[in-house]
Amino acid sequence: MEIDFWVERWNSNKIGFHQTRINQYLVYFYGEKGPPADQREKFKVFVPLCGKSKDMLWLSQNGYKVFAVECSDRAVKDFFEDNALNYKHAKKDHHGLYQSSDLPSMIEIVQGDFFSLQKKDLDDVTDIFDRASLVALPVGMRKNYVNKMAELQKSGQRTLLVTLTFDPSEMNGPPFSVTEEEVHELYATDFSIEKLCFKDVINEETGLRNRGLTALIETVYKLVRK
Ligand SMILES: C[S@@+](CC[C@H](N)C(=O)[O-])C[C@H]1O[C@@H](n2cnc3c(N)ncnc32)[C@H](O)[C@@H]1O
Repeated sequence: MEIDFWVERWNSNKIGFHQTRINQYLVYFYGEKGPPADQREKFKVFVPLCGKSKDMLWLSQNGYKVFAVECSDRAVKDFFEDNALNYKHAKKDHHGLYQSSDLPSMIEIVQGDFFSLQKKDLDDVTDIFDRASLVALPVGMRKNYVNKMAELQKSGQRTLLVTLTFDPSEMNGPPFSVTEEEVHELYATDFSIEKLCFKDVINEETGLRNRGLTALIETVYKLVRK
């Protein structure tokens, strides 16, 4: 799944992965279970491969600064325009940088390749929210993605990772099935791993059911960079 594949998906509006509602695990772990609202300005959440996810809106509205990366210019512009947010556009290194200060906390989206980010870009990031990012990548790219995540992060940075597990013979990705065993293979060297919860979501995911899935488990992990 190279960048051209995704840019084409955005340009032809084949974005079945986009959710109109806010991710329930984000709301639970960063809302109810998260830090008190008046302390959230100290937190900055990195959203890799962000698309035009409404989760970024929720994070900013709930006091968290947002830093994100997305390869599609269309997706980034759609995020701001769909949500009626003013934004500034500038060049940063070899990337485009979009910034909006309309909401309580700043949202910054780098338009470019995740793999070209540098450690300094995540310097003041405290948390990472990975929904539909690791699972968007085929098996051959997942190791590179996790290696890059390890390279970018410093000790103590936390990730909320949401994976999907299903029988891969029932459907071609993306999204791709990622088992608990694979999560350990990918992350255990550089991250501590805590499984927070899992849920059978086949009845909620009608799009994936229509693509042939008969069973689907969503699992949430907390990872901490060692
Ligand atoms: C499955 S979508 C998920 C989007 C978002 N996380 C969400 O929950 O809606 C994956 C996104 O990653 C973007 N993407 C894929 N490869 C990328 C890369 N190397 N660098 C930056 N963005 C990338 C795609 O354009 C797409 O918007």
